[in-house]
Amino acid sequence: MPELRLTPSMRILAGLLEIRTGQTLSENRFWRIETLLRPIVRSNRLRGLDDLVAAIQADPAGPLARAVVDALLNNETSFFRDEYLFRMVSHDLIPALMEEVRASGREKHLRLWCAGCSTGQEAYSLAMLFRDHQARWPGWKMQIVATDISNEAVERAREGLFSQIDVQRGLPIGSLLRWFQPEGDQWRIDGALREMIDFRVGNLFEDGGPLGRFDMIFCRNVLLYFSPGRKRELFHVLSRHCGEGGYLLLGAGETVIGHSNDFVASRRFRGAYERARPVSLGAGVRAAGQAGRGGRP
Ligand SMILES: C[S@@+](CC[C@H](N)C(=O)[O-])C[C@H]1O[C@@H](n2cnc3c(N)ncnc32)[C@H](O)[C@@H]1O
Repeated sequence: MPELRLTPSMRILAGLLEIRTGQTLSENRFWRIETLLRPIVRSNRLRGLDDLVAAIQADPAGPLARAVVDALLNNETSFFRDEYLFRMVSHDLIPALMEEVRASGREKHLRLWCAGCSTGQEAYSLAMLFRDHQARWPGWKMQIVATDISNEAVERAREGLFSQIDVQRGLPIGSLLRWFQPEGDQWRIDGALREMIDFRVGNLFEDGGPLGRFDMIFCRNVLLYFSPGRKRELFHVLSRHCGEGGYLLLGAGETVIGHSNDFVASRRFRGAYERARPVSLGAGVRAAGQAGRGGRP
């Protein structure tokens, strides 16, 4: 394969992606720039990436810059991605959360956030999982807020129309038959699932939206290309939205460990993280007092 020539325009475009989304593109992945932006270059009748950069610099907040960022994002997703996790969530995590909610006297309502939801498969998988087990959980409601920085991905998620290839990836045949209707050569998700989910466009680093607190936050396969600093920043944002006793779920190749003290690995549920309890001033003062009286430092 011929070696890729790295140009200043490629660096500018990688920089645009990083500034807008936090995603870093290392030089060995710069081939993505040429490949993914080729359709935009063609449809705008530009001669190449240098012209594209000039057009973006003339209108940095315009639709072309947004389309370029969208095209460079990795929207890879599938239904029930990582089977183990979904099984653990339905068998263990949701029942445990319900137990806690019941014990605290709160209403029978769970709130979930899919942060970086792409085209919606993760959020719809959670909605299916909840509805499939509803007989075990009478009277319970689940609300899912699903956000992504990509306008195009969120529009597709809202539409709820999936290709034959999409539904062949991870979706059990029983779920396809129960929750989808054929529409031409595509598949339309059931309106009852669609109603459970509030899809919104949002940047994880612009924590302005009225999101509130959640019992479970799914931020899966989003962190892979963030720098260590951005990961720390993001965990901080997520911890602010994680309710008391809530959980964070990451992708199979992702971890909090070594990046942040805002969450700790759950001892009860493998693969889940709990919000770290803030150290209260009282506890610190008590510990200091004991140390002064000969207790352990
Ligand atoms: C690889 S997909 C993962 C989708 C899904 N969570 C899953 O695991 O199947 C990552 C998603 O994160 C989104 N994303 C990346 N940076 C983001 C940011 N700063 N704010 C919000 N979404 C972001 C991308 O647009 C993309 O759709």
